[in-house]
Amino acid sequence: MSTDTKILKTFPAAAEYLSSIHLICRDYGFAANHRLAAWMGVSTSAVTQALGRLKKQGLVDQERYEHVLLTDAGRSLAVKVLKRHFLLEHLLVKTLDFPWDKSDDEAKVLQNQISDDLADHLDAKLGHPQTCPHGNPMPGAANEAKLLAAPRLSRALAGESVLILRITEEGEGIPEMLPFCQTHGVKPGAKFTVKHAGPEQIVLAAKNGPEIAVPFKLATHIGYEAS
Ligand SMILES: [Fe+2]
Repeated sequence: MSTDTKILKTFPAAAEYLSSIHLICRDYGFAANHRLAAWMGVSTSAVTQALGRLKKQGLVDQERYEHVLLTDAGRSLAVKVLKRHFLLEHLLVKTLDFPWDKSDDEAKVLQNQISDDLADHLDAKLGHPQTCPHGNPMPGAANEAKLLAAPRLSRALAGESVLILRITEEGEGIPEMLPFCQTHGVKPGAKFTVKHAGPEQIVLAAKNGPEIAVPFKLATHIGYEAS
């Protein structure tokens, strides 16, 4: 059994903590305890306890009250978990026709259970996907920087034509986000015109389609490019 597999078997929450720290650093530049707690929906005391355990295992580094950093070993495990997560989402959505809006939760359960061999096999069989089905880039993907820099829909202007690129990983964690996007077809590759942009909602319409009022809270986690 590899060291990584041993860690995930004895401390399954490590996968969620390490991948969340990696994503927070990727999106915000640094990870602090309170942001990690909000992202994961746990208390700050739970975060402090888990970080102590991860630090003992040499996976994170944090001076008292400082930002959380992944060590090389922690980053490598975080990236491995994220790749497994994205591949499982693809397997569920593209191969098994599992609902797009439910695949994130299922993949979180399955990501600790598969071997490196199965992950490599999935990667090849699925054609080496560069993003998850929700548009988030695989760590190290060629389009990673472009997707991460994509402006958020909350900043779109009335009259603008937008091409949806990604629902951020943080956004995927908002309970109403993926069901809303699924219902209204707000998915990577979809095109809309911004009918109205206000402080509470962004109103979109597809060609000949109905208007879709996207609440500002959700729009801040949807990346797009002008089309
Ligand atoms: Fe995803």
